[in-house]
Amino acid sequence: EDYDDYRTTDVLVVGSGIAGLAAALGAAREGCDVTVATKATRPEGASSWWAQGGIAVSRDDPEQFKDDILTASADTADPDAVDVLVDGANDAVSDVLVDTLGVDFDTNGGAETADGDDWDFGREAAHDEPRILHVDASTGKAIHVPFLNYLDDHDDVTVRDDTAALELVSHEGRVHGALLEHEDEVTPTFAGATVLATGGIGDLYSRSTNPDGSTGDGVAMAALAGADVADMEYVQFHPTVYPGSDAEGDGPFLVSEAVRGEGARLLNAAGERFMPEYHDDAELAPRDVVARAVQTEIDATGEVVLDVSPLDFEGEFPGLAAKCDERGVDWESGIPVGPAEHFLCGGVDVDTRGRTSLDRLYAVGECSRTGVHGANRLASTSLLEGLVWGLRAGEDASDYDPEVVEAPELLDRDPALPDNFAREKFHRLRRTMDEYVGLRRSPDDLGRAQAVLRRLKGEVDAYVRTRTARSLYELRHASVTALLVTRAAAENGESVGTHNLVEEPAKTQAD
Ligand code: SIN
Repeated sequence: EDYDDYRTTDVLVVGSGIAGLAAALGAAREGCDVTVATKATRPEGASSWWAQGGIAVSRDDPEQFKDDILTASADTADPDAVDVLVDGANDAVSDVLVDTLGVDFDTNGGAETADGDDWDFGREAAHDEPRILHVDASTGKAIHVPFLNYLDDHDDVTVRDDTAALELVSHEGRVHGALLEHEDEVTPTFAGATVLATGGIGDLYSRSTNPDGSTGDGVAMAALAGADVADMEYVQFHPTVYPGSDAEGDGPFLVSEAVRGEGARLLNAAGERFMPEYHDDAELAPRDVVARAVQTEIDATGEVVLDVSPLDFEGEFPGLAAKCDERGVDWESGIPVGPAEHFLCGGVDVDTRGRTSLDRLYAVGECSRTGVHGANRLASTSLLEGLVWGLRAGEDASDYDPEVVEAPELLDRDPALPDNFAREKFHRLRRTMDEYVGLRRSPDDLGRAQAVLRRLKGEVDAYVRTRTARSLYELRHASVTALLVTRAAAENGESVGTHNLVEEPAKTQAD
C-alpha cells in the first residue's frame, strides 16, 4: 500500500483506559498536541471502565502500603518502582481525579476534606488497613467517563474512535508513530513520541474479566519492534468471578474482592468454609493463593460459592446485587464463583517514566511492566499505576517533534479472509492457554503449548503478508503475546506468585 495520506501529532497515545488518558493529560498539560487512538467502544470497551474495587491511596502510613505491595508480590516487586507508585499516589489522585475530574468518591457522610479524612476507605485482600477509595463497586466507571469527557473537550487532544494500531513505525531504533486502521483504511500517524496503553490479554483465555478486544496489541507491537518485555509469565487470575454459562447474555462477571473485604466467605459444595486451611489471612490472603485454593475446591467438590450473608450485600454493593438479580443469580444462597484471567503483571519493560528500551516509545498501564506488581499484583493498584505512570510518561513524552519517515508498507492484495479464520484460530489459542498456561503449569504442557502456538503464529503470519484486516492483526498480536507468556513461563523454573509449576501435565490435550 502506498500512503498518499498521513497525519502528524506530537504525542500519539494508543488506548483509552485510565493509563492512556492520564498520558494524554500529562502531555497536553505540557502544551503538546495529542492524538488518542482507540479501538475500544465507548465507554465500556476499556478495562478501566470495569474496575470495581477502587483505587488505593496511602493514608498515614505509606511504608505499610509499600510493605503490603511487596508482600503480596512474594517480594518480587521492584522497591524503587513501588516508592514511585506510593509516593505519587495521593497527589495524583487529588490533582487529577478529585480536582480536575470531580470524581465523587464515597464518603462516610460528613463533609469531604481535601486530605480525604472523611472518605469511606474500603479494604481488600492483602491490604493491612482499609485504604481504597471507591464509588460503590463501580469505581472504574466513575473515573473513566468524566476522564473521557474532559479530554473530548480539551483543545489539544483528539480522540480517534474505532481506530486500531496495527504496527509501530520504527526507524533506526527510534519509534516514530504507528500505522492506524479506521474502517479498513490504513494511515500512518507520525509522532514525536508514542505511548502504548493497550491494556490486558483477556482474549487469550476463554474466561476473563477484561472486555473483548484485549488482545495484547501493545505488548506484541512493542516486542515485534524490538522492545524488551519482562515478567510475562505472571498472569493474574481473579478468584471470584461468576462464571456465567454458554447462554446468550450470561457472560462472566467479577465479584469484587471488596465484598470479601467486608466479610464475605468462600464455601465449597459441602457448605464448608475452606480458606482458613490454606492461609492465615483466609479470604483476605494474596489473590494468587485464593485463586488456587478456589480451583482446588472446585475440582474436589464441584462448586465454590461466595457467601454474602455476613454483610449487608444489597446495601453495600447495590450494583453487584442488581447484576446478580438481572442474571437470575440468587445471591442470598451464595454466588457461584471461580477463577478467571484478570491482569497481566508483566508487559513491556519500562522505567519510572514509562520509557521502554526503544527511543521515544513509552508503555503505561497493564501493557507495561513497571515492576510494581512483581509476580502478583495487590488489589486496587492497577488504576493507580495507570494514573501515576500515565502522567509521568505523558510529561516525559512531550519533548519531541514528529518526523515523517518511511512507513512500513502493508500489503492488501486480498482483503478477504477465509470464513471463520480468526474465530477458529482464537478458539485454538484460548484452548491452549486455558489448558496449559493457566493457574497450574507443568514443564511438559508448556513445551506442548509453545509448539501449538508457534504453528498457529506461522499460519497467521502467512496471511499477514497479504492482508490488513483488523481481526487478523488482533490475532497476530494475541498469538505473539501468548507465545511470550508461554516462553517466559517455560523459562522460569521457580513457582512464585501467579506462576505455579506442577509436575503433572493437564489431562486434556488442546491440540
Ligand atoms: C476487585 O474489585 O476485586 C478487583 C480489584 C483489582 O483487581 O485491583
